Amino acid sequence: MDILSQIDRTKVPKHVAIIMDGNGRWAKKQGMARIFGHKNGLKAVRESLEAAGEIGTKAVTLYAFSTENWNRPKLEVDALMSLLVQSLKKELPTFQKNDIKVNAIGRLSQLPEKALKVLNDIIDVTKTNSSLTLTLSLSYGSREEIVNAVKNISKKVVNNEISVEEIDENIINNHLYTFSLPDVDLLIRTSGEQRISNFLLWQIAYAELHFTNVLWPDFRRDDFYKAVVEYQNRERRFGKTSEQIENLNDKN
Ligand code: FPP
Repeated sequence: MDILSQIDRTKVPKHVAIIMDGNGRWAKKQGMARIFGHKNGLKAVRESLEAAGEIGTKAVTLYAFSTENWNRPKLEVDALMSLLVQSLKKELPTFQKNDIKVNAIGRLSQLPEKALKVLNDIIDVTKTNSSLTLTLSLSYGSREEIVNAVKNISKKVVNNEISVEEIDENIINNHLYTFSLPDVDLLIRTSGEQRISNFLLWQIAYAELHFTNVLWPDFRRDDFYKAVVEYQNRERRFGKTSEQIENLNDKN
């Protein structure tokens, strides 16, 4: 039985987040510069989006560039930024054809002007698409996101817009960059590393974590489906007992 037909279409993860890791190692294995790995990572991005669209996943969030990634050699940072610009332009017809809405999270003001302009244009042009939301995490750090949320909530308290007692999980959620997205159901990290690396710390509270040894440029549609099958084979209990979950399933 092929892997796609093993997927239960009634239990598809709504939001899949991906830490695309291993581009540098992939390139090094073939004696090439690191950027060659990033370029080849684009096919994996494309296949993951196609796979997500095929099974009805509504949101895919990619860790494309972290706040720490600014510390990489300037050559690599510049190459990543121009790769971002080129690939966004190139993929626009595909985003439109597949009804993909592009979104971005992170300290976006730090991006080079050109990259920010292209990104904002694409966000604008795709804003009425609704089959799938692709969120690019760019100059993103989860702790920084939480710090910003705390600051913005504090300002509202000082201005008497909300009271301290009113602060709850919903209010915090609504002040994160991801306010419009559902919680992450499935987090995938490639390349054998088993870390979260400051990615969506709040949003993955109940996510299933899938680690694979595949390096990002080798990640294909079937690897995505494999992660989804594994996700579906795990029992998500949200703190409840197995019996409570079984009763709930019986009722549904
Ligand atoms: C991590 O691999 C990968 C990145 C920091 C960049 C990922 C970016 C892309 C695949 C391009 C994305 C573009 C769009 C439009 C989404 P690494 O360099 O840390 O690999 P290593 O751990 O093997 O060195």
